[in-house]
Amino acid sequence: MEHGHQIDGHQVETRNTAHFRHDYRSDGADLRRLYEQAKIDQWNAARDIDWDVPLEGDGGLISDDLVDIHGTRFWGKMSEADRVELNRRITRWRLSTLVQGEHGAMLLCSQLVECVQGQDAKLFQSTQVADEARHNEVLQRYLELRLDGDIYPVGGNVKEIFDTLLSTSSWYLKTIGLQLVAETFAVSLFRMLAESSKDAVLRQVCRRILQDEARHMGFAMLSLPAMVAEASEAEHREMEDFAVWALSRTLGGIFPLAAYQEMGFAKADLDEIKQFRRERAAGGDETAFRKYFRRDLHDGLVRNLRKVGLLSERIAPNLQSFGIKLAA
Ligand SMILES: [Fe+2]
Ligand SMILES: [Fe+2]
Repeated sequence: MEHGHQIDGHQVETRNTAHFRHDYRSDGADLRRLYEQAKIDQWNAARDIDWDVPLEGDGGLISDDLVDIHGTRFWGKMSEADRVELNRRITRWRLSTLVQGEHGAMLLCSQLVECVQGQDAKLFQSTQVADEARHNEVLQRYLELRLDGDIYPVGGNVKEIFDTLLSTSSWYLKTIGLQLVAETFAVSLFRMLAESSKDAVLRQVCRRILQDEARHMGFAMLSLPAMVAEASEAEHREMEDFAVWALSRTLGGIFPLAAYQEMGFAKADLDEIKQFRRERAAGGDETAFRKYFRRDLHDGLVRNLRKVGLLSERIAPNLQSFGIKLAA
C-alpha cells in the first residue's frame, strides 16, 4: 500500500473505439432477454446479505480441503491454531485476487459498452459494469468484516490477464478472455465456494455472485458464435490462439506464496509444497471439492468453447496439455 499523495494503483494505456449508435431499436432477442434478466436480478450488497450472521466453527473460512497442504505431513505437524491462521490467510489471499479481478472486469466491461456495436449488447454490458462493481464492493465488505489487514498485492496472472485485455482493442478478444474463459472459471469457482465454505456469510456472498457470473458467461454464448462463424481464417486463428493464451493464464493458477511465508514456512518446505501441488494438478489424488471443481470447470470450458465454435482440431492438443479431456 502506498501512502501520501500517491494513489494506490497502476496505469494501463488503452486504445478503444467508441461506437455511437443512431438506432436504438432492439436488435437481438436473446441478448435483450439477458438484459431484462439482468435488471430483475440486481441485488444490493449493502442490504441483501445477512452480514450479522456470526462465524461458527473453528474460525477458518474456506474448506480446509482447499488449503494446498491439507492432508500432507506439513498439515499434520501444525497446531490447531496455526491451521486456522493459515486457512484465514489463504482465504485473504484468494479473495484478494478475486476482488482485484472484479475491479478489472468492471473496467473491461466499461470499454465493452463503448466498443460493442449492437444495441442490446451495449445495454447488457452496461448492466455488467454495475454487476462487477457490486462484486468488487461485496468482496471488499467481506474482507473488512472477517479479515483484518490489507489485501495482498495483485497477483502476476491476474494483472497480466487484465492488462492485456484492457489494452486489446477488439471486443471479441476481450469477450473471449473475460466472458468465455475467465467467467466460465468464475462460475465453477464461486459454485464450489458457495457449497464448501465454512462461513455462512461467505457462502451467501458467493451464491449471489454466482447468479450474476452465469449471466456474464451467457453474453459470450450469445455474442461470439456469429462473430466466429463470419471470421476470416486469420481472424479465426487469432481467436483460437487468444483463447489458448487466456486458458493458460487462468488455469496456470497462482500459488499463495506470501501466506505460507508469513506462517514461517522455509524455502525448502515451500519448494516441496509447490512440487506436491503440481503433481496433484497433473492428476494425482485430489480432495473431493477440488476434484468436483476441476471436473465442473473442464466440462464447462469444453462445452462453451464448442458452443461458440472455437474448439478446433488445431487447439485440441493445447487443451489436452492443460489436462482438459475432450471426449464426449
Ligand atoms: Fe464478477
Ligand atoms: Fe462477471
